Amino acid sequence: MISLPPHPFSERRAFAAARLPDGVMVLPSSPVRFKNGDSEYRYRPDSELYYLTGWDSPDCVALLSGMGGGPRLVLFLREPDPDVDLWTGPRMSLEEARERTGADEVRPLGSLAEEGPGLLSGADRIYYRLGASPECDAVVRKALSQGRSRRFRSGSGAHVLADPGAVLDPMRMRKDDAELARIRRAAEVTVEAFREGLAGVSPGVGEWEIEALLEAGFRRGGADGPAFATIVGAGVHGCTLHYVENGGHVAEGDLVLMDAGAEVGYYAADVTRTVPASGHFEGPGGEVYAAVLAAQRQALGAAGPGTSLEALHESTTRLLVEGLLSLGALTGSVDEILEDGTYRPFYPHRTSHWLGLDTHDPGYHRTSEGPLGLEPGMVFTVEPGLYFRPGSCPARPELEGIGVRIEDDVLVTDDGIDVLTAALPTDPEELASLVAGCP
Ligand code: GLY
Ligand code: MN
Ligand code: MN
Repeated sequence: MISLPPHPFSERRAFAAARLPDGVMVLPSSPVRFKNGDSEYRYRPDSELYYLTGWDSPDCVALLSGMGGGPRLVLFLREPDPDVDLWTGPRMSLEEARERTGADEVRPLGSLAEEGPGLLSGADRIYYRLGASPECDAVVRKALSQGRSRRFRSGSGAHVLADPGAVLDPMRMRKDDAELARIRRAAEVTVEAFREGLAGVSPGVGEWEIEALLEAGFRRGGADGPAFATIVGAGVHGCTLHYVENGGHVAEGDLVLMDAGAEVGYYAADVTRTVPASGHFEGPGGEVYAAVLAAQRQALGAAGPGTSLEALHESTTRLLVEGLLSLGALTGSVDEILEDGTYRPFYPHRTSHWLGLDTHDPGYHRTSEGPLGLEPGMVFTVEPGLYFRPGSCPARPELEGIGVRIEDDVLVTDDGIDVLTAALPTDPEELASLVAGCP
């Protein structure tokens, strides 16, 4: 196992609780999900619950209170049960769980329906995402109903339902050192796994074989596994943004788009490289690669404190449109094309998303005041691409079937950025030299 610094869970709780002066937050664990019958998917904890408590098993509901006087964190947990634990492993006693998490109180999950509404109904606001769990939905509904009566009698009681993200999203956008250690490690493991995957790219191999190399690299590097379904798209498959079948073969003239990321301690990396099966960028594929790389380099050069994901997306899109004009895929003026959106079939996604516990981590790109400025500690991807699906480019049909994306992970620092995945080259010669077919 990889050794990683501990999370400051109780500091995070104190910070969040200070932003809930009249409220209680309700966070249920993710349910166990079944593929079919009684075959479970490997368990992945709910990101918000994990962020505040470190609890990464099922059957938990956390109540975090910002009201003075009472307990700050109450956990409702399923008690050990030898008949169940025989199949899924031993569980902590409630006392062990209290010591492990630092919760003020731990109660049996079976008492939630009875005790939960009373713990919530005195708060003005209940922070809960409706639909997160049927049991919690019922508890919150009852608490709101009790809160209304209580308010009639005493002047206070639960009457506002709010989203936990209102408090947690801004916190999660600025990563602390424990989080950065995990993201950095996920990035390192991903870079190493890509070297193995790239070495397996050659004409005739199955996309699944490259997927296997990437994912074996993740596990060998000590990662939990892939943060999201690995994408290996050869040729036209690279034009499908979330192509995850990985069931085709790599042909001689193909570009192969690989989009994958390791998850380490529940934190994600997210990297894309697009390489020629032949080991040489040439012809229309080489031209498209150059256009996307120019956009990615420009975005990385412009990123840093003070700029915004909005501004990066705008300037990247402008450069990609200039690239589309040079490639002969579009005609007209850059401003017209941007205004009319005729570039969108070729660049249908955004340039960046936040990265963290979730691959597409929550957080704002804009606020009511305008684009959100980047600050040290924020982590995001830079992933321009151009995609020419069949039939999309009558002006230059030889581009059809080409899909290129280049994606790196970026940490904002005090005076610029740290490209966490920079060890994996994007320069066409250097990158192609990592491909098996490269002589
Ligand atoms: N792998 C999903 C994405 O790049 O956003
Ligand atoms: Mn991404
Ligand atoms: Mn990706």
